[in-house]
Amino acid sequence: MSAKPQLYAMLALAALVLVALLSRGHSSSDSSSSRLGSGGKIIYNPDAPTYVLPAQALDSSRIPFANHSTAKPFQSYLQQTLDFAHFKDLFESINATVGTLQSRGEAHVTVITPPEFDRVLGPAGVTIEEIEAIALRSDIQKARLVPVCLGRFVGKLPNPVSDDDSGDFAVYSLVVADSYDELTNIRREVFKLFRKKGGQGALFQPEGFWPHVTIGFDRRDLFVEDGLYKGSNFCYAPIRVSK
Ligand SMILES: *[C@@H]1O[C@H](CO)[C@@H](O)[C@H](O)[C@H]1NC(C)=O
Ligand SMILES: *[C@@H]1O[C@H](CO)[C@@H](O)[C@H](O)[C@H]1NC(C)=O
Repeated sequence: MSAKPQLYAMLALAALVLVALLSRGHSSSDSSSSRLGSGGKIIYNPDAPTYVLPAQALDSSRIPFANHSTAKPFQSYLQQTLDFAHFKDLFESINATVGTLQSRGEAHVTVITPPEFDRVLGPAGVTIEEIEAIALRSDIQKARLVPVCLGRFVGKLPNPVSDDDSGDFAVYSLVVADSYDELTNIRREVFKLFRKKGGQGALFQPEGFWPHVTIGFDRRDLFVEDGLYKGSNFCYAPIRVSK
């Protein structure tokens, strides 16, 4: 008589476990969304407004490739260049409430960072010209970017290394997804070259890449070296794409 409710409870538990297992299997099968940084599930700040981005903002196919190959520390890197004109309103609508933000007056997605080049790729004998040749062959300016959200960091750095790093910072970026792996594939080609030249695999992670467009910051931009991971984990507010 008392065994029946127990049986029902066990069946219900088994069903719950099954549902949980099935949904886990589903989300982990999508490798590009898991690379976004939060298992594909975006968590917005409850009080964040929705920001607007013009539909053409992420189409850079008609913008010329810009090389960044100055032979000076942290002046060699690879980027997909975007048209800042399409990001100006977004910057202004954020700064309208923040009020302390600066803008670089240009927009881009960094594909190989200055520290990756200076500390890892360059010392292994990979030249910035070789990286640019890979990017041009891969039509970097035609890479398709998908908007994810507006990312925000406000607060203290987790690991300040100098007095300049103390106190609060604010950084806003548009998080984008390399959903077609076009930028990641450039990084994979660079990795092949790096390995061919004897580079240690552990030092360069082609998929260790969080594409974003820096929109504004108060003191300086912040990077993965500062402890910021700019995947969908970075999301603060939704982005609506307008016509
Ligand atoms: C890099 O850009 C400069 C102009 O900004 C140009 O003079 C130079 O030829 C370019 N180099 C390559 C390898 O495309
Ligand atoms: C951001 O907003 C402040 C306050 O309105 C303004 O003084 C400043 O010029 C703005 N920044 C830019 C880059 O427009």
